[in-house]
Amino acid sequence: MILSENNVFLLENENLSYMFRVTEHGNLEHLHFGAPVQLGDADAFSVKYGTGWGSNSGPEGEEFPMYLPLEWSGLGAGDYRESPTEFAGEDPAGFKFSHYKTYDGIVPMSCSLPQAKGEAETLEIVLGYIGGMSLHLFYTLFETAITRRAVLYNNTDRPVTVTKLMSYMLDIQGEYEITTFNGSWIAEMRPYRAQVGLSGIVNESTTGFSSAMHNPGFMLNQPGANETSGEVMGFNLVYSGNHYARIQKSHEGLTRIVQGISPVDFEWELNPTESFETPEGVMVYSDKGFGGMSRAMHKFINEHIVPKTWQYKDRPILYNDWEGCMFNFNESKLLSLAKKAKKLGCELFVLDDGWFGERNSDKAGLGDYDVNKKKLPNGLSGLQRKLSDLGLSFGLWFEPEGVNPDSNLYRAHPDWALHANSGVTVLGRNELLLDLSKKEVRDYIVENVSRCIDDGKVSYVKWDMNRHSTALGATAHKCVLGLYEVLDRIFGERPEILLESCSSGGNRFDLGMLCFSPQVWSSDNTDAIERYHIQYNLSYLYPLSTMGAHVSAAPHSQTLRDTPLTTRGNISFFGLLGYEFDLDDLSSVETEEIMNQIEFYKEHRHVFQFGEFRRLRAPEGMSIQVSDNRTTIVGLFHELVHAAPGYERIFPEGLEARKTYSVESRKQLLNASKFGGLLKFILPVKVKPDGIVVRTAGKKYRMWDATQACSASGAALMSGLSLNARFMGTGYDPQMRMQGDFSSNIYLIKEES
Ligand code: DGJ
Repeated sequence: MILSENNVFLLENENLSYMFRVTEHGNLEHLHFGAPVQLGDADAFSVKYGTGWGSNSGPEGEEFPMYLPLEWSGLGAGDYRESPTEFAGEDPAGFKFSHYKTYDGIVPMSCSLPQAKGEAETLEIVLGYIGGMSLHLFYTLFETAITRRAVLYNNTDRPVTVTKLMSYMLDIQGEYEITTFNGSWIAEMRPYRAQVGLSGIVNESTTGFSSAMHNPGFMLNQPGANETSGEVMGFNLVYSGNHYARIQKSHEGLTRIVQGISPVDFEWELNPTESFETPEGVMVYSDKGFGGMSRAMHKFINEHIVPKTWQYKDRPILYNDWEGCMFNFNESKLLSLAKKAKKLGCELFVLDDGWFGERNSDKAGLGDYDVNKKKLPNGLSGLQRKLSDLGLSFGLWFEPEGVNPDSNLYRAHPDWALHANSGVTVLGRNELLLDLSKKEVRDYIVENVSRCIDDGKVSYVKWDMNRHSTALGATAHKCVLGLYEVLDRIFGERPEILLESCSSGGNRFDLGMLCFSPQVWSSDNTDAIERYHIQYNLSYLYPLSTMGAHVSAAPHSQTLRDTPLTTRGNISFFGLLGYEFDLDDLSSVETEEIMNQIEFYKEHRHVFQFGEFRRLRAPEGMSIQVSDNRTTIVGLFHELVHAAPGYERIFPEGLEARKTYSVESRKQLLNASKFGGLLKFILPVKVKPDGIVVRTAGKKYRMWDATQACSASGAALMSGLSLNARFMGTGYDPQMRMQGDFSSNIYLIKEES
């Protein structure tokens, strides 16, 4: 509900509330963002500045308000904190309250920026500016989030150059720690936590895209908050381009948060009568710790960000040929893989890079769309028909924003590519980016991608993009707007197509892309153990339904780690399961293990993809949980094991104390060959550690691992379920946890009464 009385505005529902008021000088004083409160609480929240600080300055008569917690501000009139607005040659201060409006629902944007949708209420606050500009601040209240954005109108008779316009600003009281998520290719989402200090912290991308270097999402927590208690706020931006956030504490004890498009090199010419829209910022709040904040964010994304057709809709289990084949495939190899994928239980076959033009490596062909007839003599439609005969749907990879200089497209239109201002050719993965601010470029992409999709009756598209941009400022923003237009034109007309976006993995994992593609390829790092951490850290801000997570080969191509197949599967369950290696290399035991994995995942797919997610305490390992009202699934993962391990427990959460539950471990198979010469203790024959008997046993001998079943009350389980013992040199026992390093188990907990 949106309430207003005596110049106080309150957006509130049963989960959160947001309150501010108009001061006597027309400034917006921020009062509260947090737990539900009432309109009458305004005075309780307002800061009491008494005689103020001696060094203050400001417009005559309103010196002190410049120390207020504010909803908007600007340099040049006594507020020296981070300014949300800057104009070339104009004073950014001076926006004062004019009037407001409320709306049922969202207020649609007038540019191609995506925005949150669905049930909501909106408050529009209009600020007037002495020179004739007006700034419209939109606040939209959703069930578990508030979104904010600013729109600037040039009502003057002269052009105005905007050099900075944030989506939102607010000043909150108190001490906070901040967590940002930083990294690189195959090293996405590494958390960095710090105290918010007086000089502040900046979270920014200048790569042209949201980037794996600094994800736009971040969290603020009260010191001492943990997974289940304490106040935590999550912030994000519905935007895929250069972003900027600064979080800065003031001497007076206020923390200013601004977030929006990066101002680096930004100059936007706003002519009379034109407006400039900023991307939407998202804020969630929980007093139930990081876990509560994550679940609020997950619900918001699942219900208001991803495309409507895919909200809570089960995602297919896919096979992708990339890590198995790279550029080296033909139709018969693909069909051999497809037959095996089908036997395993996969539902979708994805043909990745290399199917068009002279694309036999990443050096050529990007930008062209003619099918490579040497690899696919029957074209996309021929391949699709054969896949359909096998009972598989067809998915296809594209990288429409890039172009290789060695391509027919570049030879015909070198001017369609973006070049660095310096004139130097800056290549990334041997490619340039196309200038999506140009209409002819956007039309070319829409026509060609649409034709291929329709021709191949494609039901899934992987939309890749594999380099950073050379564009900065307004050009970079125009390219992002161009990308959104292209995505809307192609997929708006084809809502039934499942779009997975990708950018060398998670280089563009953001809410902007998620408005078009309900899922994102989390990382090119498919090493299961590394992936566990990437998925775990993504889970702070994004739901499991958005994370493409595939089982790949071991030893792994990036780490050489030999992770057991069971663990590779168990980690991918906590995301969108897929398989991505050469299936022609599978043994019969591995085939059976994967069939078991897929059967288990299918049975619990909805809870894995859309259930409530929790990061659990796990004194001896790492543990996560998904649950709906009938089923709870706990995963327990280990890295290096130690000899003589102690007792171990798992700590499920959210069960009902008095109810009785059955607990069962997922049946999983061990690879017998990993025991090498130790097999002699359980086999009736003499064996050499690397001999034929051991190798054959690995391929054919079924060794069950860690079978455990019991029933107990919710209270008992939540205080710690004691697990079967680990292997300690004591021989084979199918009830023991036998896997050694990088082991894992999944426990299925079901309500009995
Ligand atoms: C980068 C992606 O992240 C990979 O999954 C794969 O699609 C390659 N590009 C193909 O070039």
